[in-house]
Amino acid sequence: PDPGWTTRADVIVVGSGIAGLTAALELRTRVPRVLLVTKGQLWSGSTVWAQGGIAAALAPTDSPAAHLADTLAAGGGVCDPAAVEVLVTEGPDRLRELVARGATFDLDDGGQIALTREGGHGADRIAHAGGDATGAEISRALVAQLEAVRNDPGIEVIENALVLDVLTTDPHDDGGSRACGVTLHVRGEGSRDGVGQALAGAVVLATGGIGQVFRSSTNPPQATADGLAAALRAGAELGDLEFVQFHPTVLWLGSAAQGQLPLISEAVRGEGAVLLDVDGVPFMQGVHPMADLAPRDVVAHAIVRRMAATGTDHVLLDARHLGADFLRRRFPTITARLADQGIDWTEVPVPVAPAQHYHSGGVVTDLDGRSTIDGLYAVGEVACTGVHGANRLASNSLLEGLVFAHRAAHAIADRVARSELRPGTPARRPGPSALVPAAARAKIQATAAAGPGVIRTDDGLRRAAARLAGVPTDAHLRHAGTSVLAEPQTAEWETTNLRQIAAALTAAALARTESRGGHYRADHPDLDPAWARRVTVALADDGEL
Ligand code: SIN
Repeated sequence: PDPGWTTRADVIVVGSGIAGLTAALELRTRVPRVLLVTKGQLWSGSTVWAQGGIAAALAPTDSPAAHLADTLAAGGGVCDPAAVEVLVTEGPDRLRELVARGATFDLDDGGQIALTREGGHGADRIAHAGGDATGAEISRALVAQLEAVRNDPGIEVIENALVLDVLTTDPHDDGGSRACGVTLHVRGEGSRDGVGQALAGAVVLATGGIGQVFRSSTNPPQATADGLAAALRAGAELGDLEFVQFHPTVLWLGSAAQGQLPLISEAVRGEGAVLLDVDGVPFMQGVHPMADLAPRDVVAHAIVRRMAATGTDHVLLDARHLGADFLRRRFPTITARLADQGIDWTEVPVPVAPAQHYHSGGVVTDLDGRSTIDGLYAVGEVACTGVHGANRLASNSLLEGLVFAHRAAHAIADRVARSELRPGTPARRPGPSALVPAAARAKIQATAAAGPGVIRTDDGLRRAAARLAGVPTDAHLRHAGTSVLAEPQTAEWETTNLRQIAAALTAAALARTESRGGHYRADHPDLDPAWARRVTVALADDGEL
């Protein structure tokens, strides 16, 4: 079907969190023409919500080797050590460049970047900004840089653009199938309105996470797995999908609460707050040598077990002993969000429960962000670089976005200079055959929470797979006809993506018959050394998993 409009660039970057903005800024001076498209506004991705910080071995007493060891330990034996090596050794320079780009981090009394600790870290290495508003500051600085060059001829920015599909060339062309663009649904951006296509020699997906697959998540509403689903449909290999990170301390707003919920940063426990059960009894001592600062999966599972033992759906986070002045100064964002809910955490412990927070898996890439489809790159949360393994170490996500977006941008620019990434002609628009009605979203989210949620079983996962397969598509929302293109339904595309990724991660969770990191199987509670390998998912020729 004909797209309504066409635009062209050398490289298209999809997404405007830390990874997308970094990739676009690095590419801008290195290739003739970059197109940055983003689903909402430039500042409205997940990065802006990041509280705790960004990890880097900056302290004289710290080292990349120590950061590497902590990352590998949290990752449960399935990180790619080469990718982690890149992350921890290139991280400090990338962080300094971020400062040079205008990001202002909190300083210690000696005027150096102040470093705190979070779960799983054996050293103080978390840089933070505005106390607990690190992502907002990074986002501000990067968006400001981009806004300053937005009218340059070498860059085009399209906001309010939902990526529908990754376009690929004919597989029989010389050199095989390559990514050559994306189809987009744009809402009201001048001449770029409605469905159109953007063609380029390379596509960089920086579309973030999958939070809205689940009933409750710290992710913003935009996190509907659009890039991940588009990559899957285009034929890319996805990996580590089963490793979903549930943050232990998300504000509990009642059992009916859903959607994006406020995060209570791990840095709060880093500063000394402790978890209590509803009877006021601390329970992390003896569970792990790092107690309340154990890696996230350990703390989340301990909370779930304690909630079951006490017959409740939350526990408490007690920060009162840190003092009202300190809490208000160090955690202004959290203090304000709690006050919005009528909670004064200087006086009472905060009710918390685990909720979906981060997806360690994604589009399988090499160390330069290259996926299994030539010309298709993935950076940031949507990627599976191998740095997180089974469980991401706290504050390694902003760092991953920064380090690997920089690498991908430079690798792509080198290939463009060598004429290896010339725009091709789209032969295939691999969309779903029909879309899922928006009304199915709640059922998909409840199914994901009950199936591939914090605690998984074979039965629960099989039931989830059957329910997801049974979610009806709507014949009136056919992709093959012109109706979807002529009148695209954003909510239906999102729901289609949520169902597709919920099904893919359920399949991956069924396959892994052991427990490791962010994947806990009550029916296989132990780690099985035979599973020290990656589960990958790709669509078969018939379009099925
Ligand atoms: C937090 O502040 O607890 C979240 C940081 C992260 O997810 O790395």
